[in-house]
Amino acid sequence: MTYTFSEETIEEIREKNDIVDVISEYVNLKRTGSNYKGLCPFHNEKTPSFVVSPSKQIYHCFGCSEGGDVIKFIMEYQNLDFIEALQLLAERVNINLDDKKLKRNSKENKKRKRLFEINREAAIYFYKNLFNNKKAYNYLLNRGIDKKTIKSFGLGYAKSDWEDLKKYLKTKGFKENEVSEVGLIIKRKRKEGYFDRFRDRIIFPIINTRSNIIGFGGRVLDDSQPKYLNSPDTPVFNKGKNLYGLNIIKKNKNDKILLVEGYMDVISLFKYGINYAVASLGTALTKDQAKLLNRYGKKFYICYDSDKAGQLATDKALEILYSQGIKAKVILLPENKDPDDYIKDNGKENFNKLLKKSLDYIDFKIYYYKKIYDIDTVEGSINFTKKITSLLKKIKSTIEIDVYINKIAEETNISKEAIKKEIYQNKKSYAKNREKDKYIYNNYRNNNNKEKIVPVNYTLEPGHLTAERNLINLIIKDKTIYNKIKDEIKPKDFFNNVYRKLAEIIYHKYNESDDMKFDYVKDKFEKEEMKKVKETFDMENPMEGSEKIKAVRDYIDKINYYKLKLKKQDIKEKLKQYEKNESKEGDVEKFNQLCLQLISIEKQLKLHQ
Ligand code: GTP
Ligand code: MN
Repeated sequence: MTYTFSEETIEEIREKNDIVDVISEYVNLKRTGSNYKGLCPFHNEKTPSFVVSPSKQIYHCFGCSEGGDVIKFIMEYQNLDFIEALQLLAERVNINLDDKKLKRNSKENKKRKRLFEINREAAIYFYKNLFNNKKAYNYLLNRGIDKKTIKSFGLGYAKSDWEDLKKYLKTKGFKENEVSEVGLIIKRKRKEGYFDRFRDRIIFPIINTRSNIIGFGGRVLDDSQPKYLNSPDTPVFNKGKNLYGLNIIKKNKNDKILLVEGYMDVISLFKYGINYAVASLGTALTKDQAKLLNRYGKKFYICYDSDKAGQLATDKALEILYSQGIKAKVILLPENKDPDDYIKDNGKENFNKLLKKSLDYIDFKIYYYKKIYDIDTVEGSINFTKKITSLLKKIKSTIEIDVYINKIAEETNISKEAIKKEIYQNKKSYAKNREKDKYIYNNYRNNNNKEKIVPVNYTLEPGHLTAERNLINLIIKDKTIYNKIKDEIKPKDFFNNVYRKLAEIIYHKYNESDDMKFDYVKDKFEKEEMKKVKETFDMENPMEGSEKIKAVRDYIDKINYYKLKLKKQDIKEKLKQYEKNESKEGDVEKFNQLCLQLISIEKQLKLHQ
């Protein structure tokens, strides 16, 4: 996307929107020293690690590393793009963007608006159709959806003609190529022209948190296939980054969010007073969707179909959520039911009872894997125990672990002692691995001291070591490459001690000579280092010309990327120290500096991805 906003205008918007004021509208902030602190809105936490600095006008979270300025905050919090965030902030402080000639500049934005208009016009049309079509209206009534609910969700009906919507939108002044861009019409393959995507279907408009219609789902009225059709991904619709029902969640401010599978589940639950359900859009839950959820709720529940596929999807969703720091609970439904069926038959109170009985992460895993492995067989129960204990090692509290050990022992015929052994063995090797990483990292940090040898663990980042080796190999084979990169990459940039030493010798030698022979280096290395050196010399490299140059670029990129990553770790470590003894005078400035550095490194890291 290209923005042609003048820097001045952006600066004015930034300046007038004090970051503390803005963030206070969304997060409860408390003053600590010269900064403000609160619970991070971007991840789940109980103790505040989200810091806002009024002097630098930035925010940073120590828990999840989110950070940036006031514009970035609004983009992240409201799920907006840059322009939309600027607009929101401009409105907030009564800056009229029309006066700033911004409207003309923002071509991209204009186009998005136009696409939203098409969707809105289509949605209104579908909505009106619904009340004129008995079959469609009765279908919804028969499924227990009343007029009020139809209105709340803007449900509609697409007629069965092949070009009905196309013709209608034409009368409204929209061109075919525009309408096809939002996926409402499809280009014919054999003939000229376009036809409607949705025909003879109940229509579910998908609305984002800014009340724009971004896409549609359509359901058949009988048993024909495919049961559901969705808009394709378009410039205004990205399935993996949106959720059905999020607009309703935002409106009704509830700390609970309930994740379900289908449109009809969201709607039916809503009708019975559960107004905090969302559905992913016909695909498995994505990380982006999990992040989005994190922004709008505090307590999370999953309630998928009770069949096998639904439970598998539950397990996957649970993991995705867990990876984003969300500990969701699972609501189990009776055989062959989805939330829609259940609440229709049993009502809200019974549904709430199920919600109260929902299973937490480990409890669900026990329930789920017990079904997957046949725990009546010896092999099955061993596999089951292995699976569950591998999950238990993630839990810090030994008391909690003890509770689960008792549970597993009850569920299987395996003794508590055996289970304990399994867990603590795992835990130990896990801790040991982490120690090893730390050791390497600390050595790296102390590496200003030249004598210090940096031990390198091959499993740490094998891609990076390969890059170092291959780059040296190319330098050895071709001095012109050395000439090209010698100012950009220095021997000290090599992380592995053998490669660094080798680079030092090579750089030195190339100063006076035009070739590079194994003889020059062979007596300078210890026996155990020799294997690596020899290997680096002997490697065949068939690349030529531009291919070779591109490879060199890639290697340098990789090395720089890794350096940035280490630097980031280092800064985060330092910031943690400040966190611990925060109120010390004079530290605030340094702290803010570090935050800025961190933000800049994160930006650079993003460029490398
Ligand atoms: P009803 O049968 O109307 O109650 O639908 P449901 O919501 O119970 O649907 P189901 O559990 O079969 O599917 C859940 C969700 O998956 C739906 O809401 C759709 O988003 C999606 N889905 C189901 N079937 C299809 C299909 O045939 N194609 C596509 N693209 N998505 C589907
Ligand atoms: Mn259903």
